[in-house]
Amino acid sequence: MNYRHAFHAGNFADVHKHVVLLALLERLKQKPKPLFYLDTHAGRGSYDLRAEDAMRGGEWREGIARLAGRPLQSADLLRYVQATHAASAPPTHYPGSPLVALDALRDGDRAVLVEQQPAEAQALKQATQGRRDVSVVCGDGYAALKTYLPPRENRGLVLMDPPYEADSEFADAERALRLGLSRWPNGVFALWYPIKAGAQSQRLNAALQASGLRKLLRLELTVRPADSPIGLNGSGLVIANPPWKLDDELRAALAELHSALDGKGGSRVEWLVGE
Ligand SMILES: C[S@@+](CC[C@H](N)C(=O)[O-])C[C@H]1O[C@@H](n2cnc3c(N)ncnc32)[C@H](O)[C@@H]1O
Repeated sequence: MNYRHAFHAGNFADVHKHVVLLALLERLKQKPKPLFYLDTHAGRGSYDLRAEDAMRGGEWREGIARLAGRPLQSADLLRYVQATHAASAPPTHYPGSPLVALDALRDGDRAVLVEQQPAEAQALKQATQGRRDVSVVCGDGYAALKTYLPPRENRGLVLMDPPYEADSEFADAERALRLGLSRWPNGVFALWYPIKAGAQSQRLNAALQASGLRKLLRLELTVRPADSPIGLNGSGLVIANPPWKLDDELRAALAELHSALDGKGGSRVEWLVGE
């Protein structure tokens, strides 16, 4: 399978995911200790929104373009529009999760970016050339959990953003989160999942609730009724070991994001499993 994120870059799900990614890194940076960032499904790092794939998909018009130039209240949203260069006008390029994260990391922090498709990994190498303490690995992001965790910094974030092209990927993702936490119990993990018609995202949430894992926060944003047959109706993230007060702090930010995106669904922040 050959998933191409270029069709989707900058869509509402990217916006949701990257707002939360920056919010997590910002809170982790509140302590001076070096951080480790692992991106298991990194993509190519930067997407030209004027290129054919992005124009054909056009999904960024209902994502990042809706925030551009808009007055925003939340510090988490303001940080995101600055990071994506969308504060005053729609950007021509959209940064993928690796560049969003690398721009937020400090000297002394370290990142490993894993991408399976060779052409995407090569583009990612170019997009991150010259950056210190960054490794781009062409390989399997799930296998990387065994190779790189626990990190010597013992503080940081793992972003898991699989393409969910195969139905089995929901079960793979759930297993991977359990594996990652078994290797690094106090790491912060963010697992993204799509919300479409059908019960797969609910099944993933139910499996995580039954898994015995603790401290799992669910952040969902829907722009259509969750059972609409059109396609991607919503974006979900499960955060393991979220920073203190993230739930309260993101509730207002994600409600504001939802209203800026003009969606028909809603946003929710709730504990899937508490302490
Ligand atoms: C949803 S995209 C990632 C988008 C990126 N995280 C971002 O936010 O900009 C998923 C990516 O995972 C890659 N991929 C698919 N299976 C993989 C695997 N097992 N390990 C690593 N990368 C994989 C795909 O080639 C694709 O580039």
